[in-house]
Amino acid sequence: MLRLARTCPIFLTMTVLDILEKGFIRFRSWVSVFAVLYAGLIALLSFPYFQGHLVYLNAVKLPFFADLTTPEKYGLSPNRTLNFHLTTPDNESIGAWFVLNDQYYQSLPSIPSDLQAYVKPALKDRPTVLFFHGNAATRAFKVRVAIYKALTSRWNVNVLAIDYRGFADSTGSPSEEGLTRDALTAWDWLLSNGAKANDILIMGHSLGTGVSSQLGALLGNEGTKPRGIVLLSASNNIPFSSIREVLDSYHLFGMVPLMKPLALLPGATQLVSWVLVHKFDSVRAVPNITASVLIAHAEDDWDIPASHSDVLFQAYLEPHLPELAVPDFGPKVLSDEEWAKLTAQQVARKEKRATLVDHTDIHNFGYVDEFEAGGQTVTLVKTHAGGHDYLPLQEGLQDIIKKKFSVF
Ligand SMILES: *[C@@H]1O[C@H](CO)[C@@H](O)[C@H](O)[C@H]1NC(C)=O
Ligand SMILES: *[C@@H]1O[C@H](CO)[C@@H](O)[C@H](O)[C@H]1NC(C)=O
Ligand SMILES: *[C@@H]1O[C@H](CO)[C@@H](O)[C@H](O)[C@H]1NC(C)=O
Repeated sequence: MLRLARTCPIFLTMTVLDILEKGFIRFRSWVSVFAVLYAGLIALLSFPYFQGHLVYLNAVKLPFFADLTTPEKYGLSPNRTLNFHLTTPDNESIGAWFVLNDQYYQSLPSIPSDLQAYVKPALKDRPTVLFFHGNAATRAFKVRVAIYKALTSRWNVNVLAIDYRGFADSTGSPSEEGLTRDALTAWDWLLSNGAKANDILIMGHSLGTGVSSQLGALLGNEGTKPRGIVLLSASNNIPFSSIREVLDSYHLFGMVPLMKPLALLPGATQLVSWVLVHKFDSVRAVPNITASVLIAHAEDDWDIPASHSDVLFQAYLEPHLPELAVPDFGPKVLSDEEWAKLTAQQVARKEKRATLVDHTDIHNFGYVDEFEAGGQTVTLVKTHAGGHDYLPLQEGLQDIIKKKFSVF
């Protein structure tokens, strides 16, 4: 088309078309540069080392030059927070903060100096939230400190927050197995200081929901029941509930759909599932978790779509629904009989779901779905607002969790 048009005798048009053509060639070369960069990025991601960095972002140590030995710098009261290190069975050193509940701290006659001596009385006094943060940054990150403040004052609980291996001032480098070990070490520390399992509410945010689910499964395996498990802005595995979803929704910095172009290539799905080593499959942990679970997600979460929490809730619900026996699909047409059977199964599931699941709309806030089966309550809270990072700070959500797990 361009060439044909060039036979046009008008000089001006020619110049314009020339520029257009040059521009087009330049555009094409930019596209190839981008394609090469993209291919390079994807190739890098096939190395567990780089994948790890992208999944955990543990090299992003925000706030910059954080002084984790002085929680006061980040707004917590003087000597209310014990900064210390846990040692894991494989000898990693894990940085941790233990924040005393506000009422207990305020009841002390003066600012304590030997904080270690107040850990046991505080654990005896009130329940404790064992908090597992998401990827990137440290336990001193602003929004995280805001969470400890809210929980220690609004709920009047103690908070133990750790930085996994490879994060902040902890040693080592992150892996699914390693983070799970760190979580169990933190749990054991609470028990060894006199907390009962039922005094501890496990709470994870984002990547921390994967850690919480793995810990919950380990505890379930040995017949231990924490007060509950709270999964906020959950991703079902890292990254995400199915490889198809990885391809569709893995966003870099919340903007660039990184993997989407890959989805167009044949065989890419299998390749990515084979290559991903950092999984945190919270759906697979479901059958092993015996404690009650609360899952919450904001509808305006742009990092991890709220559908991840639907998938997770469904995984908890599934064993209690009539089976959906899908006939082998192939290059054939289902018979009327097969269709009728399938439809009947779906109707039965829908009816059972309706009798099992309690649905409550909360005006201007969101909704709550909940069911109880075999001594386990599973709750799904969807909020209209909160986004990814600020969901834990939604007071309405905090109130629901507090009530659900009787933190009075
Ligand atoms: C554990 O690590 C520390 C350094 O972090 C080292 O000094 C110590 O020897 C190690 N212990 C064992 C048993 O490996
Ligand atoms: C806080 O604790 C330290 C010892 O860990 C002590 O030296 C300091 O005086 C305490 N701060 C206040 C304000 O009492
Ligand atoms: C769940 O339990 C089964 C055995 O009951 C075990 O094989 C599996 O490894 C457990 N999964 C997790 C995530 O702990």
